[in-house]
Order: sequence, then structure tokens, then C-alpha cells
Amino acid sequence: MKFFIDTANPVEIRKAYEMGVIDGVTTNPTLISKENRNFDSLIREICEIIQGLPISLEVIGLKFEEMVQEARTLSKIGENIVVKIPMTSEGLKAVKTLIAEGIKTNTTLVFSPTQALLAAKAGSTYVSPFIGRLDDISQTGMELVGQIVTIFDNYGFDSEVIVSSIRHPIHVLEAALMGADVATIPYKVIEQLVKHPLTDIGIERFLADWEKVPKK
Ligand code: E4P
Repeated sequence: MKFFIDTANPVEIRKAYEMGVIDGVTTNPTLISKENRNFDSLIREICEIIQGLPISLEVIGLKFEEMVQEARTLSKIGENIVVKIPMTSEGLKAVKTLIAEGIKTNTTLVFSPTQALLAAKAGSTYVSPFIGRLDDISQTGMELVGQIVTIFDNYGFDSEVIVSSIRHPIHVLEAALMGADVATIPYKVIEQLVKHPLTDIGIERFLADWEKVPKK
């Protein structure tokens, strides 16, 4: 299972990368805007940190021609750039064209299994179901992930499922149990995954007991 970090914050990306558990980065316009920085220099800095790992950058245009044009420009930043395309009919058309050109795509804002099926049929490299946003409106987001994993397995689609809009460690656990390819995780949740109170207590006790060992 791959872990991507869902942020555009270079400090968070560096800390997670140095932990050795990060396989890529996902961003979106909201995450980019939070950094309040020049887009090009921000992306350059992120690319330097993650050394060739995939980084998803989203297009803003909604028309096929705009998406394709933006994607071609973004893809020139590096071979590791994955272009995020919103799940619309124009978006599907763009995915098909970009994949034929060798540009990797991440179909984003997926909220139903049939949207995911369409994105896979268009050949999208990644498909991103947003589970937290479904939970927010009282639908069980993880059920969607289970359905998508089953459909992709049934037909052997190559698209990888990125469990997105993760809010807490249980989302990561359930994604792993369902066999999702990737979880894209906010830094705060990565920290929560690391922590366990019994680990802290255990370390404290071991150190205290070590003090009692005669040193000469
Ligand atoms: C995924 O690629 C998105 O950036 C992200 O997971 C959106 O999550 P949110 O619902 O927390 O904004």
C-alpha cells in the first residue's frame, strides 16, 4: 500500500518524507492557496524534497481544451507530475487524450462507483474517491472504496485507487483492509498513525528501569 501526503506545505512534506513512509504527494487548489506563495517556486521546492515521487497538481480549466493545455504545461515540470482532472465528461475526454500522450492523470472528485468505473475506462492512472466529504453528508465514504476496489478487481483495470479526503486513522486502516492501492493522508493524520499511548508509556518505563541498572 502506498502512502501519499495530502498537502502543499513543504515543511510537512519534508517531515513525512524523512520518516521514510511517503510515496508521493497530492495537492489541490485549496491546499495550494493555503501556502500563500508563488505557485512555480512552491512546486519547485516540493519537487526537490520528494525526489521524483509522483506529485498530483490540479487543472483549473473546465473545458476539454483548457484542461489538456494546462496539463501539458504542468507535465513539463517533470516526469513525476500527475495531472488532476475533475470527474466530468470534459474531464474524461481530457484523461483519454492525456493518457495517449503519456501524461499521467488522477481523476479527482469521485463520489460514486460508476464515476470511478468511467475514469478507469478512460484509462486514468489514478482515481480519487473523496470519502471524508461523503461522511460529512452522512454517507459511508468507505463503502464507496470497497465498491471501487471490487469493480477494478473484477475487470483487471490498471487504475490505482487513491483513498482521498481522509480525516482520521480509521479511514487509513479501512483502506488497507479493503486493499486500496493508495491512501493520501494529511500530515496531522500521519502523526496520529505514529502515536500510541502504550508506546509512550513503554519507552518511559524502559528508560526508568535502565536507570536502575548498575553501570559499573
Ligand atoms: C485529494 O487528492 C484531495 O486533495 C483531498 O483529499 C481533499 O480532501 P478534503 O475533503 O479534506 O478537502
